[in-house]
Amino acid sequence: MSTPKAILLTLVLLGVGAAAGAALVVWGGLYNVSATEQHFQPVYSMLETAMRQSVRLRARGVVPPKLDDERLVLRGAACFRDKCLQCHGAPGVAQGDIGKSMQPLPGPLVDARQHWKPRELYWVTKHGIRMSGMPAWEFRLAEEDLWAVVAFMERLPDLTPQQYAEVTQAKPVVANSPAAQAACGPPRDTANAGVPGDVRRGEKALHQYACNACHTIPGITGSSPNVGPPLAGVARRAMIGGKLPNTPDNMVRWLRRTHEVDPQTAMPELGVTERDARDIAAYLSTLD
Ligand code: HEC
Ligand code: HEC
Repeated sequence: MSTPKAILLTLVLLGVGAAAGAALVVWGGLYNVSATEQHFQPVYSMLETAMRQSVRLRARGVVPPKLDDERLVLRGAACFRDKCLQCHGAPGVAQGDIGKSMQPLPGPLVDARQHWKPRELYWVTKHGIRMSGMPAWEFRLAEEDLWAVVAFMERLPDLTPQQYAEVTQAKPVVANSPAAQAACGPPRDTANAGVPGDVRRGEKALHQYACNACHTIPGITGSSPNVGPPLAGVARRAMIGGKLPNTPDNMVRWLRRTHEVDPQTAMPELGVTERDARDIAAYLSTLD
């Protein structure tokens, strides 16, 4: 056999061997998914590096606003206490049971400032880290609240446990301003009935509202659940949930006021904003 042929044959055999090994691990159930087992250190380090480099690359174009604003820091402290504390803990406060038992372990973000630029902290908070359990906050925190949390993380290393307790108890400083009154939360609804829904954004919103936990939806990755009816061909159906004629406005109503439309339905209300509901309806209207 000539040398190139022998090399080729060896490569093919190695490839077949690797595929057979992988198949055995996957179908044989050999990979232990238990969260009480750790990754090997080299595997962990490789995943960690891949994650950090991925964030660095994607956050390059983000331009932070001014972050050393006391009001922003205070608001961020409130958001952090409500949304992040349970997993990450804070000065003098341990994370809750969920955070303690996750794998990978969400660390206290006191040293986040050393590892990440503000634009990277913003990116991680907004988009989350897939496969790690770090949630995406894009659909749950308004743009200004995302930055407020970043401003707070920038301040975290300077806070004693006493100071943390004080700032998280503090009331917003500018009383009566709309920003101070609205609790830390999702973007204020800016939907305009005249503006058509955004199909691409609707696709993202569908899995950010966990619709695919119950519905099998074309174009959305999932485990083909059957808790709710499959949404393939939903645009062709005459009725929504057997209650409303299938129009775009009624779809928005179904998604936002589900229990008003049908008090008996097993479909939960998911706190969908008007804008997100319009975008989701736009995506669903493509499924015919
Ligand atoms: C359900 C648990 C959970 C919640 C809630 C949560 N996180 Fe995380 N977070 C994680 C996990 C898990 C990681 C990944 C840790 C790793 O890979 O090392 C992580 C990683 C991070 C990182 C990267 C940390 C690093 O240096 O490795 C940042 C920054 C972060 N989270 C910020 C936040 C902020 C801000 C909030 C609140 C808005 C938040 N997280 C809420 C679980 C959570
Ligand atoms: C916890 C499970 C669950 C979640 C999460 C859920 N649904 Fe449903 N959904 C259902 C069930 C159950 C029904 C059937 C309700 C009925 O007919 O009373 C339903 C019905 C529907 C229908 C009507 C379908 C038809 O053929 O009439 C639509 C459209 C729909 N859901 C869209 C969504 C969207 C979009 C989301 C995310 C914002 C979502 N659902 C989240 C369980 C769920």
